[in-house]
Amino acid sequence: MSTGNSTAEPLPPVRDLSALRADFPILNQAVNGHPLVYLDNAATSQKPVAVIEAMDRYYRCDNANVHRGIHELSNRATATMENSRARAARFLNAARSSEVVFTRGTTESINLVAATWGADNLRPGDQILLTEMEHHSNLVPWQLVARRTGAELVFLPVTGDEGLLDLARLDALLTPRVRLFALTHVSNTLGTVNPVAELCERARKVGAVSLVDAAQSAGHLPLDVQAIGCDFLACSGHKLCGPTGIGLLYGRQEQLEAMPPWQGGGEMISSVDFHESRWNVVPHKFEAGTPNIAGSVGLHAAFDYLDAIGRQRIFQHDQELAGYAYERLTTLSGTRVFGPRTGRSGVVSFLLDDVHAHDLVTAADQFGVALRGGHHCNQPLMRKLGVPSTARASFYFYNTRAEVDRLIEVLREIRRFFGG
Ligand code: ALA
Repeated sequence: MSTGNSTAEPLPPVRDLSALRADFPILNQAVNGHPLVYLDNAATSQKPVAVIEAMDRYYRCDNANVHRGIHELSNRATATMENSRARAARFLNAARSSEVVFTRGTTESINLVAATWGADNLRPGDQILLTEMEHHSNLVPWQLVARRTGAELVFLPVTGDEGLLDLARLDALLTPRVRLFALTHVSNTLGTVNPVAELCERARKVGAVSLVDAAQSAGHLPLDVQAIGCDFLACSGHKLCGPTGIGLLYGRQEQLEAMPPWQGGGEMISSVDFHESRWNVVPHKFEAGTPNIAGSVGLHAAFDYLDAIGRQRIFQHDQELAGYAYERLTTLSGTRVFGPRTGRSGVVSFLLDDVHAHDLVTAADQFGVALRGGHHCNQPLMRKLGVPSTARASFYFYNTRAEVDRLIEVLREIRRFFGG
């Protein structure tokens, strides 16, 4: 018995995406006496049975360590993980599997690039261009490497509550001093979808390397690293129906080959002497230690699951639901809604009168509605917007218009409770 290939069967065509809710047992429960309405998908998505069962089968039938064994189970586990890498390359449309490094997630992928490419290439006077809407995971690693190398951080502004990048400022900021332009594809707070292909091309024209944080986009819209033309792209499995603890770093082959290794240990070497070592080939050079093999199995099943639905279809559904939520929220008096009115992804941040976001989210939970409240790892953006935090509803393909209606009903209750 082998799980070398994902066992997720292509799904039958469905007229209504909400029919897929049956694949997510967790959604069918009551929370605080009310049917669960899970609107925290930007933090983590739920997992379909196909993913849960693929990982269960791997542990029941194939589990062994990879690359170092000569026995049957180890060969099977190795083939399983390398199949997952090839599937990941197809998911991203990378030119080759060796351009895909398994990491713990988006944060680790970006830290890897900052610690290796950054430490090797940045000098005093160089600039790293970021945007004002970056998650802390695409900000703090660059602060750390800037401090070590003497490079300087510069920021492409956000236009305000509308939440767009101020592209009129790009020419002034994207000069030949910029060695790297790192930006998010989709804002986890504003829902903005940035024109990453155009921005990576602009970076290339000044000789800068580009990195795309695809944490909020990889499971929600079609991604093609060759069409985007980025040097690096980072994403997490758990936000796209896969397990926690596994993600991807895509890197162009030439970039990965030129970079020094990051963590040292088993698997990342070709040979070791007492005083020096030689490195394994890409991508293994960046995968020290036993990898998350079961995670790669779950990720493979998640890619199959999403592609059977179609990422364009998922994106359309996200946009429709978020647009509907935006319109309904703006009809509630006293709400402030952040991010673009149209063309947004499935993330909607808002505030309700003077109710603190944490109180709002705690109250919504009493009605079974799972939102997120806080700074969403966007503290500088919050300061720019002039708020300490927001409440956030984030949607996925299994969410419905009825759930948006329930959210609005619950918000009305909450406002009544707080005397609004
Ligand atoms: N980065 C995740 C979020 O925005 C955790 O919620």
